[in-house]
Amino acid sequence: MVNKKKGTLFGKLVKRVEKDTEFLADLFRNREDRFKEEYKDYVKRKKVERRVSEKHKVKHYPTVGEIKKRPKPVEKIGGKEEKPVEAWLKTGVPGFDDLLEKGIPKGSAILVAGGAGSGKTIFCLQTLNYATRNGEKCLYISFEESERNLKRHMQDFSWNPDSLDKRGLLKIIRADAFNLARSIEALLAKAKGELEIELNEVLGFIPKNFKPDRIVLDSLSALAAAFTKGEETYRIYIEQLFRYFEKIGVTSFLISETEQLPTRFSETGVEEFLADGVIVLYNIRRGHIRENAIEILKLRGAKHQKRIVAMQITDKGIVVYPEQEIFGELEEK
Ligand SMILES: Nc1ncnc2c1ncn2[C@@H]1O[C@H](COP(=O)(O)OP(=O)(O)OP(=O)(O)O)[C@@H](O)[C@H]1O
Ligand SMILES: [Mg+2]
Repeated sequence: MVNKKKGTLFGKLVKRVEKDTEFLADLFRNREDRFKEEYKDYVKRKKVERRVSEKHKVKHYPTVGEIKKRPKPVEKIGGKEEKPVEAWLKTGVPGFDDLLEKGIPKGSAILVAGGAGSGKTIFCLQTLNYATRNGEKCLYISFEESERNLKRHMQDFSWNPDSLDKRGLLKIIRADAFNLARSIEALLAKAKGELEIELNEVLGFIPKNFKPDRIVLDSLSALAAAFTKGEETYRIYIEQLFRYFEKIGVTSFLISETEQLPTRFSETGVEEFLADGVIVLYNIRRGHIRENAIEILKLRGAKHQKRIVAMQITDKGIVVYPEQEIFGELEEK
């Protein structure tokens, strides 16, 4: 039994602990809903992360030397005709657009690949935020973070998601990758995997009366992890998705979580063939410090610089330093 006798030092301490415990209990009760939602997010995220890291086995930050040795993606895929470029788009990420001669061809499908925490989500939110300034309609589909979290990230960078939402320029939608995968698997099983999937049925997460100019899908990796009946079903779906984006002429940014030193840039490898462009974000280890870097690995139909350059995540978002070549600078030392 605890001695709570009034006046003793120990009694006072116990009283204090009881008070503090009560205070904490109150605090938790008041914030229960928020904690619950964030905890649910966390558990789901960990599940996806586990599946991704199991696939990649080695999880470590690459050294510059390792990056130099990693393979390049295949540039071309057969069968996709080159269309004349209708317009050139800017990402609005300071410094990044300087890596491009004219911009990104409108209607391209861009894979945004990189390791955990390399800035993929911020890069995509930033380019949508920029596009809305020119009146473009933007859609962010998240299989990972909640709408609330994503809006909070935007507010951290002084962007105003609520006003963009009200003006009909930005929609952030949280979709359930597991439900989506289940319904696609069911459809394909019914069709014995031979028929083309009815796009309307599997793209239920795209709002009916919203015709976006730019779409972000965060992430293909979370979606792939939700498929349980093998890679083939996911691959069929992905092909349909790319075809659909091409048909509606939307410019898409498809996030792909890779190991820190990617040997491939997507879950199955098929995504990087289907994509018109691949942007890679890095967390590079230099001694005991990690530095961010970015690279345009490929971009069909567009001239661009082929260098890995320094990047920083600041309070205003991502800033790219196109003149600060990571390798060049190191080699000089
Ligand atoms: N306001 C800020 N200022 C500076 N750095 C920030 C700020 N906000 C976030 N960061 C950095 O950005 C990183 C996360 O970026 P982001 O969420 O875009 O990464 P990600 O590649 O999408 O990660 P994940 O694979 O976990 O989804 C954080 O780890 C942090 O280092
Ligand atoms: Mg992210």
